[in-house]
Amino acid sequence: MSRDELEIQYRELVENANSIILRMDMKGDVTYFNRFAQNFFGYRQEEILGENVVGTIVAPADSSGRDLKAMIDDMALHPSSYVSNENENVMRNGTRVWIAWTNKAILDEDGRVREILCIGNDITRLKEAEQEIVKAKEAAEGANKAKSSFLANMSHELRTPLNAIIGFSELMKDESVGPLTGKQKEYLDYVWESGKHLLSLINDILDLSKVEAGKMELELGEFDLKELLKKSFIFISEKAAKHGITLSADVKEGVGPIKADERKVKQVIFNLLSNAMKFTPDGGKIGIDAKKTDKGEILICVWDTGIGIEAKDSHKIFSEFEQVDSEYSRKYAGTGLGMPLSKKFVELHGGKMWFESEGNGKGTRFYFTLPLNIGQK
Ligand SMILES: Nc1ncnc2c1ncn2[C@@H]1O[C@H](COP(=O)(O)OP(=O)(O)OP(=O)(O)O)[C@@H](O)[C@H]1O
Ligand SMILES: [Mg+2]
Repeated sequence: MSRDELEIQYRELVENANSIILRMDMKGDVTYFNRFAQNFFGYRQEEILGENVVGTIVAPADSSGRDLKAMIDDMALHPSSYVSNENENVMRNGTRVWIAWTNKAILDEDGRVREILCIGNDITRLKEAEQEIVKAKEAAEGANKAKSSFLANMSHELRTPLNAIIGFSELMKDESVGPLTGKQKEYLDYVWESGKHLLSLINDILDLSKVEAGKMELELGEFDLKELLKKSFIFISEKAAKHGITLSADVKEGVGPIKADERKVKQVIFNLLSNAMKFTPDGGKIGIDAKKTDKGEILICVWDTGIGIEAKDSHKIFSEFEQVDSEYSRKYAGTGLGMPLSKKFVELHGGKMWFESEGNGKGTRFYFTLPLNIGQK
């Protein structure tokens, strides 16, 4: 192939490439502008050749205020720093676009930079998507912060009136302020119960957001775990008796004084027992087993002979606001916060929580561990 034929081939290649291809001299004046570039930017060859890139396809400053004229000047001095460069460009009609450029210095016989060959591809949509992601992330972070401060502020605002509702309805239903009819007493019981329920809900939500924000701290103290476990049935004994449910405890040697956050451990056990109670039909059994393992931790199991948890639902148990949707659970009110919160409390202690169930009415066993050496790390 002759030199001329070769040149024609190359020229066709460059002319028809689906990329912006241009050359500029050391002043930034355009010396070559391929067809794709002409269509893309909206300049005809004769309009752009000899013109400076600044003022045509490069605005003096980009949308964020970056000095692009200085960048072009610097490019002529240090072309090797701009081998691949992303910057904003502008079309003839004023539309701003983002181009990813590959720049190559063209040297003369003496090795001096004579021109710069620039090949560019439109990445405007990519950049826009990138900016959308940044914006969405900022919005999400802002919303999360707003949520935290909302909860912190509302905590006080919600609890103050609620304490008045609970306190005064308690005074009234005990008839400390005067005698009541049967109906009045019954309705006051509802008011009191609902107030208590709402308060525990608010406390759960606040606790969860505190754990999530990493602001929940353990209040470690020494207490007798064996005593706490023995006493824990008090919460449910009355209800259990009413429903013919048998309670049993098996606390082994070696379970005794422990260093942990008593209030939180109590809450975990209370949550487990109230679930066991909720999901065990009349005549069933509920129990607590506890022992020291050879790994130097206490293993506690709260078990029941209730409805069980199907394998397909197991992912829901420790997820916030998730409940297994069954005929049985729909009968019982709840929010789906008890287990996720309990798991987080256990993990704060350095322990683990899990459950076993064969589903299908075969009962459930919830386990959790508490390390004995907590606070000594
Ligand atoms: N012992 C159990 N037997 C069967 N299912 C259970 C048992 N414990 C929990 N579950 C299932 O796990 C779900 C989540 O339990 P969790 O304690 O988090 O929520 P809840 O009891 O429904 O509401 P809350 O505790 O917030 O009042 C329950 O709704 C229930 O479907
Ligand atoms: Mg619960």
